[in-house]
Amino acid sequence: MKQFQNLRVVVTGGTGFIGSHLVEKLLTLGAEVTVIDNLLHGNKLEHLGRHQNLSLYEGDVRDIGVVSEALKDKDLVFHLAAIVGVEETQLAPSEVLDVEIQGTLNVLNSAVNNGIKRVVFASSSEVYGDLVEPMKEDGPFYPKSTYAIAKLVGEEYCQAFHQKYGLDYTCLRYFNVYGPHQDERFVITRFMKRVLCHKPILIYGNGQQTRDFTYIDDSVSMTLLAGIKPEARCQAINIGTGIATAICELADLIATSMDSKVPPKLAYINYDDKRPRKIEIFSRVADITKAGKLLQYEPETTLASGIRKYIDWQLDKRR
Ligand SMILES: NC(=O)c1ccc[n+]([C@@H]2O[C@H](COP(=O)([O-])OP(=O)(O)OC[C@H]3O[C@@H](n4cnc5c(N)ncnc54)[C@H](O)[C@@H]3O)[C@@H](O)[C@H]2O)c1
Repeated sequence: MKQFQNLRVVVTGGTGFIGSHLVEKLLTLGAEVTVIDNLLHGNKLEHLGRHQNLSLYEGDVRDIGVVSEALKDKDLVFHLAAIVGVEETQLAPSEVLDVEIQGTLNVLNSAVNNGIKRVVFASSSEVYGDLVEPMKEDGPFYPKSTYAIAKLVGEEYCQAFHQKYGLDYTCLRYFNVYGPHQDERFVITRFMKRVLCHKPILIYGNGQQTRDFTYIDDSVSMTLLAGIKPEARCQAINIGTGIATAICELADLIATSMDSKVPPKLAYINYDDKRPRKIEIFSRVADITKAGKLLQYEPETTLASGIRKYIDWQLDKRR
């Protein structure tokens, strides 16, 4: 990680959940960090205050002027800006495509023009759909939503830019990242907030659908390694743990870990317009063999300890 000392790094989506953790870690490693973000969900970097090695472009990745200015004289780009969340992406599918496609094109074009060493593109486990598991990087791919299709297009653009201009890239397919600063678009935070408000945890369907939950610190470590490891060049890599957890097990774990005076209840509800059954992923777990081999990293945080850390952070924040 010494390679990040004085490296000039751009993080798009850097005030978001994963981005803000990544920026914080880059700053502790001595990197000079430039963030592009339109603050769609607030600024999760606010707690850092001013930092001499951090600059923020409050702008849109679809604006080529902003992107080319921010990428001037930089070494490495982590491209995370995207519209995220099942409800948000359902509400504005054409904007999801626009941000993903125009935004990614702007980042790749500016990267070529500025001689950037590598673009790390935030893709998603959504590209796999849910027909095969564990999910391996070479597919098959059964995208079920506009968001998933948009991520596949972004990956294709990365490959095309490599072929045409020799630009190096790494596509990271994140599997349900969680941890401090996450908001209620994501299931773990939603469940915790329900318990804190003494309301039942709401579970869509029968709760048997599985996810591969990855703690933010492990995700950030793997993201950083993807930016510098020669082995990660021009690869798609799963960022997960290889462990499937059913949503009802997750709810039980959160309920028992929250030390609530009122025992939390679980309520099973039907799919609806906000969360249509046709785009639900019923089983999802990563094959992490490739990540282990190329990044030489195994996730360190179990779901139980990650949930414990996240709950402690939530409770601390409330005090
Ligand atoms: N959190 C996960 O579990 C997960 C899973 C799979 C993939 N991902 C991918 O990782 C990346 C980061 O996700 P996250 O969980 O931190 O989400 P997030 O919503 O917290 O962060 C995304 C950031 O992008 C910014 N953004 C959105 N549109 C923009 C635009 N047009 N111009 C500039 N900035 C814009 C938002 O303001 C936000 O700060 C995304 O690309 C997401 O698709 C995340």
